[in-house]
Amino acid sequence: MNSLNKSSNTTAPPVGTAFKQPTVLAPALRYSYRNGEIATYDTGKTEKQLLTYLLDTEELKSLHPTGTVLQGTLNYNFVLSDPDGNLYVWRAPKEHPQIIPIIHQDLIGTGFLINGGSYRYRTIREQVNFMTEACRLHLQNVEAITTNAFGTLLPFIQGTPYDNYLRQGGIEATKNVLDNIVTAHKHNIVYGDRWTKNTIIKPDEGIVEIDFDIELRGEIAQEFEMAQLLYHILFFSSQREKMLDFLKSYLQINQTALAGHDFFMVRKFLSNYANYFQDKIVEGIAGGIEQEIAELIKILLCLF
Ligand SMILES: Nc1ncnc2c1ncn2[C@@H]1O[C@H](COP(=O)(O)OP(=O)(O)OP(=O)(O)O)[C@@H](O)[C@H]1O
Ligand SMILES: [Mg+2]
Repeated sequence: MNSLNKSSNTTAPPVGTAFKQPTVLAPALRYSYRNGEIATYDTGKTEKQLLTYLLDTEELKSLHPTGTVLQGTLNYNFVLSDPDGNLYVWRAPKEHPQIIPIIHQDLIGTGFLINGGSYRYRTIREQVNFMTEACRLHLQNVEAITTNAFGTLLPFIQGTPYDNYLRQGGIEATKNVLDNIVTAHKHNIVYGDRWTKNTIIKPDEGIVEIDFDIELRGEIAQEFEMAQLLYHILFFSSQREKMLDFLKSYLQINQTALAGHDFFMVRKFLSNYANYFQDKIVEGIAGGIEQEIAELIKILLCLF
């Protein structure tokens, strides 16, 4: 039985004072499976009303399932709509994500775990607290509307996942993505798992970080996060030469802001990434960007 079924006819447990207390009437999601994967869902007896909660002190809103479920590797994201057509996401963790040993292997292969880093999965409550704290610091990430033991309600962010933006040749929003990470690191905030698919680019090129499942720990966490992000920017970009020029100029302009990073380690992780993924296919793209990463390492060596 999955976690959302367990939530049938329960009321939400108390949540921190920072959150509006929801009245969850009947989050009775029933999955229908196709080839072992959730394809659609319905709400059984609660056909018309999925969640009713106080959006603010005056307004009571009902959320209806749209039928769309955005599947991640660790979570289901059920897209809901309010009567005005505003979209929301009910994010609920998968019970047995098959990706877990692969994540562990990747963190060894890219050198994080063998250089003093460690990681863990944030609980739902920790993810919500993390979002709140990062928003308090004016970082660019999604903030939870409410939560219970089974999941989190988030606004649906309209836009393009950053990896798709990069595949389509986009470059400019990269400034906003990097600015946000640099600011986060200044505040000792490490998002974890910044591989471009956990960032949404809005139509105005503003950015929103989503997905805070994985916490990276240790003195080298910021360096690893910077390397992970830079690697994936180049990996997914269909304009790698132009992107390298862009990164060069960004790194030059922001040399002072970036000085808190140990670039010896950033370079080491970049090189590990290129080696580890050189013969792997990720999201339909073949590895083998050692040349571009070598260029980037050269740029970093000149600057830091
Ligand atoms: N609040 C949101 N607004 C819009 N889209 C979202 C939102 N949250 C998640 N998505 C989309 O849902 C899909 C699944 O993302 P999700 O981050 O849940 O995957 P995941 O299980 O964490 O896996 P991964 O580890 O691969 O990132 C992605 O396309 C993502 O862009
Ligand atoms: Mg994700």
